[in-house]
This record gives sequence, structure tokens and C-alpha cells, in this order.
Amino acid sequence: MNNFHLNILLYTKMAILSMLAMAASSSSSAAANVHPVILIPGSGGNQLEARLTSEYKSSSLVCNKWYPLKKDPDGWFRLWFDPTVIFRPFTKCFNRRMMIYYDPDEDDYHNAPGVETRVPHFGSIQSLLYLNPTLKGITSYMKPLVKSLEKVGYVSGNNLFGAPYDFRYALAAEGHPSKVASKYLADLKTLIESASASNGARPVILLTHSLGGLFALHLLNRSPISWRQKYIKRLITLAAPWGGTVGEMLTYANGNSFGVPLVDPLLVRDEQRSAASNLWLMPSPRVFNESKPLVVMANGTHYTSSDIGRFLGDIGFPEGVGPYETRVLPLGLRAPQVPVTCVVGTGVKTPEKLIYGGSGFGEQPVEIVYGDGDGTVNMVSLLAVETEWGGCKNQSLEVIKIDGVSHTEILKDENALGKIVGVVSSVNSGISMSSLVVRTFS
Ligand SMILES: *[C@@H]1O[C@H](CO)[C@@H](O)[C@H](O)[C@H]1NC(C)=O
Ligand SMILES: *[C@@H]1O[C@H](CO)[C@@H](O)[C@H](O)[C@H]1NC(C)=O
Ligand SMILES: *[C@@H]1O[C@H](CO)[C@@H](O)[C@H](O)[C@H]1NC(C)=O
Repeated sequence: MNNFHLNILLYTKMAILSMLAMAASSSSSAAANVHPVILIPGSGGNQLEARLTSEYKSSSLVCNKWYPLKKDPDGWFRLWFDPTVIFRPFTKCFNRRMMIYYDPDEDDYHNAPGVETRVPHFGSIQSLLYLNPTLKGITSYMKPLVKSLEKVGYVSGNNLFGAPYDFRYALAAEGHPSKVASKYLADLKTLIESASASNGARPVILLTHSLGGLFALHLLNRSPISWRQKYIKRLITLAAPWGGTVGEMLTYANGNSFGVPLVDPLLVRDEQRSAASNLWLMPSPRVFNESKPLVVMANGTHYTSSDIGRFLGDIGFPEGVGPYETRVLPLGLRAPQVPVTCVVGTGVKTPEKLIYGGSGFGEQPVEIVYGDGDGTVNMVSLLAVETEWGGCKNQSLEVIKIDGVSHTEILKDENALGKIVGVVSSVNSGISMSSLVVRTFS
């Protein structure tokens, strides 16, 4: 049989496969030929459930008797997001259960004793749409993005999937165990393979928000290049904090209630400090100028991106120093050698320098100096891969800047959604890109 026949056979097979796919997704014929999309959320961007075992001990009657108010028959309840967390006594219970602990002997993190956790609906977009399905209005997360993808023919479960994860845990540098996050990468890999298999062997588009971009990059860098070429069509990252953020230093020093009224930032600080994923987002010396002070004290001491270890000690979190230096610091940003599109918001004032007064870290900074970014992530971090991968011949990179769109608005803003879906559609229509394209929109 000559090549020509082989091609005809292949095309016939493809035609049959796409007819089957069309039949499967009768609600939308446009969906037949698209690359499957897998959504990977950011930190806090999916639901988490917990269950308390007999090992669980709480000194507080409130936590034992009244919290949570609702559990299923097997004892599982919603840990994230649960709105009762804003009531002070419950904030404390929540914190204790949400905290994770670093065990230096194991060189790994684990849950609080007596607290089991699970991520509901892995593989589906269900737990990414709303952080709490009973409060759709205020906890909507990826719903608007999903709606926009549905308009161009994507159908949940057919060619649109979700990869939620336990966002308190992080990946670690080579040679260091990271049980929870490594299991997630393995599951994500399986999901990618099955999404491709059920879509005519078409490679997938990974569409990430925030921290999800870092997980996706490391999955790619830890997989053989032949696997990446077979299964990944495009990595599209929204607001990825490639090099961390200065705001994370504020979270570690003083806690961050994320503007939720009634929540005392100091009450949530311990939980925030405990999360391995937060440590991952400290400003990286590969990205932030190592001689530029990011935190300035009244006594003249300052901290740059090279001083994060000393900073952690000085704020009273010495237990973070070891894991930071061994597990986080060596993590790189190697080019994944599959096409990447970075979509970022710009022109939103973003903490760039924290200035503390006479009481040191005991009080909130007396002044915060702002710079460019998306309100959460500094510009230099959003664009870090442009510099990192600039000289890499095998890396095509498209950067789309959208002026005035914040870190979370990027998932809701009509203009931003139009651009994101535009990228997905261009991938599906077979438009490839040159090695570096930067497009700026206002
Ligand atoms: C880094 O910061 C220092 C001090 O602010 C400055 O002198 C230097 O030019 C900066 N380097 C780069 C590459 O921007
Ligand atoms: C300055 O303040 C920092 C943070 O409070 C503290 O760790 C450091 O020891 C102080 N340095 C001097 C020289 O007093
Ligand atoms: C680029 O890709 C080719 C083919 O996959 C490979 O042989 C080469 O080593 C890659 N170059 C770099 C710098 O990774």
C-alpha cells in the first residue's frame, strides 16, 4: 500500500472518529474538531472537603460541638470554601483544620492530626465553577470562563475537563518528596491522556489560572519531551506568578484577610504560613532584582529577594527557613518546549515594597509602595518567562497583556474572556505562532 492510500485511510478513520465525537456531543456540532481543554485552577480555586477522625483533638468546645454545622453521613464536610469561617470562633477552628505541617524527618508536609481531606470531582469542572455551590453569587470562580468556552462549542465531560487539587501543598525541588502534589501530577497526567484518547487522539490545551500555571509547567518539565509533543497542543496560563509576589511577604509577616471584612489577618496568618504553596510564591531571586530592597525596616535593615530565609526567621517563622531553602529555592522555570501563551493583566497597582515602622513586623507596614502588575502579581513575575525562555530556540511564547485587568478579574472580564477564548479558537483553527509574540490590549 502506498502513502497515498494510507493517507486516505487515515482521513477516513479521522472522519469516522469525528462523526462519533459529534454524535456523542449532540448538543454542539462545533465541538467535534476542537482540542480538549483541561482547566487547572489557582490557589484556593476549588473546593476541598474534610473529615475528622478519632485522632482529632480540639481544646475548643465550639470546634468540637458546633463546627462544622453540616456533615454528610460519612462525616465529610466542606472545608473550603465555607462562609462561616468569617465568624471569629469558627475562623480558629477552620485554621487548625486547614493547616499543614512540615515534618523535617520525612522532609514532607502532612495534614493536621486527625484531619482527612479530599478534593471532590477530580477530572470535572464541577468544583471549579463555584467555591461553594450554595453561594453561587459570591463564590463564582471559573463559571464565566466556562460559559465563554461553551459558546464556542466546548461541552463539560466531552472535551472540557477540570483538574482541581489540594492547593495547600506544593511541588518540591528534585530529590525532595512531595507526596500530595506528586500524586496530583500523576493524576493530571492520566487525565490528559484520557482526555486526548476520548477526543480522537488530539493533544490537549492546558488552561491554567495563577498557581495552576506553575503546576502545569512542572508537570511538563518532569515528563519526557516525546510525551509533551504527543499530548500537549498549547499551555495557556492566565496571571501565572512565575517568580512569586512581594505581597506574599506581607502575608507571611502580617497575615492577609484578602479584604474580607470581619476577618482578623493575624487569625489566619498561621494557616497561611503553614501552606507549602504560599512558600513557593515568595519573590524569587531568579526573577526579582537581587539588590532591590523589597522590605525596609525602621532600623535600616532591609530584605531583597536573596534574603527570604533571613526574612522568614526575623518575622518569627524559623520553621519555614529549611523547607524554603531546600525545597523551594532550587525550583527552576525551564522552558517546556511546547507552545505557551501567557495572558496577563497589567496597570493595576501592586505591592512592590513594604516599609515597616518602629514596631517592626509587630504591626502592619506604615507604607506600601506600589508598582505595575495585576494587583497581586508584580509585572516582573508575570513576565518572567519572557526573560527566562528568551534565548531558547525550541520555545514559542505568546504574551498577551490586557491593561487594567486584575488577577481575578481576568477570569470574569468580558474583554479578557474574549482574548482567552480567541487564543483557544486560534489553536483549534490550526494557527501556529512564531517564536515570540507580544500583544498589548487596553
Ligand atoms: C537592580 O537594582 C539595583 C538597585 O536598585 C540597581 O542599581 C540595578 O540597576 C538593578 N539591576 C537591574 C538589572 O535592573
Ligand atoms: C532590625 O529589625 C529587624 C526586624 O525587626 C530585626 O530582625 C533586626 O535584628 C534589627 N536590626 C538591628 C541592627 O537592630
Ligand atoms: C530542541 O528540540 C530538538 C528536537 O526535539 C532537540 O534535539 C534539541 O536538543 C532541543 N534543544 C534544546 C536547547 O533543548
